[in-house]
Amino acid sequence: MAEFRLPKNSVVQPGKTFKAADGAKNTKRFVIYRWDPSSGENPSTDTYELDLDSCGPMVLDAVLKIKNEVDSTLSFRRSCREGVCGSCAMNIDGTNTLACTKAIADIKGDVMIYPLPHLPVVKDLVPDLTNFYAQYAAIKPWMWTQSTPPPDRERLQSKEDRAKLDGLYECILCASCSTSCPSYWWNGDRYLGPAALLQAYRWIADSRDESTGERLDELEDPFRLFRCHTIMNCTNTCPKGLNPGKAIGEIKRMIAMRVL
Ligand code: SF4
Ligand code: F3S
Ligand code: FES
Repeated sequence: MAEFRLPKNSVVQPGKTFKAADGAKNTKRFVIYRWDPSSGENPSTDTYELDLDSCGPMVLDAVLKIKNEVDSTLSFRRSCREGVCGSCAMNIDGTNTLACTKAIADIKGDVMIYPLPHLPVVKDLVPDLTNFYAQYAAIKPWMWTQSTPPPDRERLQSKEDRAKLDGLYECILCASCSTSCPSYWWNGDRYLGPAALLQAYRWIADSRDESTGERLDELEDPFRLFRCHTIMNCTNTCPKGLNPGKAIGEIKRMIAMRVL
């Protein structure tokens, strides 16, 4: 018989509350998921009240302020703080997005911050992306050629063919899309998910790549590609404004009209 209740040790408990300093007038509460696997305790949500008059404008600024000034035990990933590296993706105010490009001012009420959903948690806001990166590697994210390269120059591409990569090459592999996709939630072990599939299409669409047939062979599988049911959460959530759902649709169309 299927067990529909969550195990008791996964139920999120109310955690600690950290008040803003006396005299703070412009305060906001940040409610953040906490879990330390080494503690043996249940996950909790800790509440941090911050004075926005001494905080930068983005959610990442608030998380950094908490780490630096309030609670150094909070774990999260970040690097570039300008929407380029993809490492600060979290679930903020119910949406997967980048903490460094999400403005605090755009969030009404308390700011709820959880790790990206449906991935194992390493600690606090740090998800385990091992499977996600393995899936990226599985689509062979490099130029896969069959011919010998010209001896004296690069493989060239027309401006028109280069333009076909717009909307694809900008992906920063933040995993917001894949972790917003219900098909990926339930079949993430075998379904590649929208991030890896957008990257697969990025190479299929590249005029210099010479292995479209081989790439489609590898994707033509009931699980790897066709578990996409065009739900489009991926496109709606992408913080870079990309359209993985459309890219997946293009791969499906190419397989349906297969000539290679
Ligand atoms: Fe992130 Fe968008 Fe790339 Fe998905 S398509 S990994 S949401 S940048
Ligand atoms: Fe999922 Fe996007 Fe397809 S949300 S089902 S990958 S269109
Ligand atoms: Fe690099 Fe947010 S810190 S994308």
